[in-house]
Amino acid sequence: MIDPTRVRAALAERQDNFSLPQPFYTDEAFHRLDLDAVFNDEWLFACNSCELREPGDYLTLEIGATSVLVLRDMDGEIRAFFNTCRHRGSRICLEEKGHAHRLTCPYHQWVYDLDGALLHARQMPAGFEREGYGLRAVHVEIVCGMVYICLAATPPDITRFRDAVTPYLAPHQPWRTKVAASVTMIEEANWKLVIENNRECYHCAANHPELLATLVEFALPDDPAGSRDFRLLMEAQAAKWDRHGLPHLPADGGDEFRCIRLPFHRGAVSFTPDGSPACGKLLGELTDPDLGSVRMFRVPNNWNHFLADHIIHFRILPLSATRTVLRTTWLVHEDAVEGVDYDVDTLTSVWNATNAQDARLAANNQLGVGSLGYAPGPYAPSEFMLRNFTNWYARKLASHLDGAHGQRSIALKVSNG
Ligand code: FES
Ligand SMILES: [Fe+2]
Repeated sequence: MIDPTRVRAALAERQDNFSLPQPFYTDEAFHRLDLDAVFNDEWLFACNSCELREPGDYLTLEIGATSVLVLRDMDGEIRAFFNTCRHRGSRICLEEKGHAHRLTCPYHQWVYDLDGALLHARQMPAGFEREGYGLRAVHVEIVCGMVYICLAATPPDITRFRDAVTPYLAPHQPWRTKVAASVTMIEEANWKLVIENNRECYHCAANHPELLATLVEFALPDDPAGSRDFRLLMEAQAAKWDRHGLPHLPADGGDEFRCIRLPFHRGAVSFTPDGSPACGKLLGELTDPDLGSVRMFRVPNNWNHFLADHIIHFRILPLSATRTVLRTTWLVHEDAVEGVDYDVDTLTSVWNATNAQDARLAANNQLGVGSLGYAPGPYAPSEFMLRNFTNWYARKLASHLDGAHGQRSIALKVSNG
């Protein structure tokens, strides 16, 4: 375990509105602290509920050394469990995705129901009480079809987030979708550099030609850096969204989340190379393909775009101090037909190119931050979201050190069926 004095010293050294001191980005002991203080304590985006369409569908994800199993049970409810057998601890589901009506541990074949109850434990003696050996449950919350999980025994309140983002997301009916494509890539960078890179578009003009063909690089409706043309576009689109009853002004997410609807460039309606729709069948009951995109971000591991014709979820999980896994998932209406309503290459090419460019930028950032020559540098005004993020992060670590969350390191709730 990391010496708290070291962490407090690094936090004290941190300057507001500057990038973080080096060890936060490079040191494996700080990485383990991030797992404890942030990833084992916060709500994490796992997947869209449509990825678990049928009872028995499951997926797994790794939060540090902890594998979590997310599944749909026979009653249609989405549940999550530690993917660790209650016999001697083997990992149970070894694949990233699968389908099973019972969960059988590969080691000695203990069998669990999808509600976590232990059904069979062969050769165990008479009197063995299976009830005490159900899978340990992980908290689950579904927000407009997005599955969030939390490993903490007592999770942080998610109500404010849910209430704030639902009016923006619900018109897109993210729960009535299907996965059109999913890409997983490893970024050679600390997870915070991946988030910081994502939270600003200061780098976009020089690095993202495909993205900027359609995306407006300004982050606020009244962005001081915005051009006159942007303001006129914003006014016209905002009036239209008001007529549709679609919220668009920034939600009050503090440092924890952000939700806002912003337009595409004039004439563009979607993240395609020429701005034309990516999917002919619009989401939910939407009838207007030109709704801009709801950009929703939530600490620590998720950002998204909700368009009229598709949704993109981005999920990151840290692998080490200097490596992060990014999973990007493109969703279209559940009844959309590939080859008729959409083409996967057209749907994914802009963000595949953008992700590859961002991965290079973040890796270069990591290399420079690891140098003897690195010193924290000042954020530009357009990097205000990095200030929000690093302030949130510093508070999270400080409160962890103060013990506010120390007691809720893992959930010990046991499922008895
Ligand atoms: S460790 Fe799972 S059955 Fe033995
Ligand atoms: Fe980028």
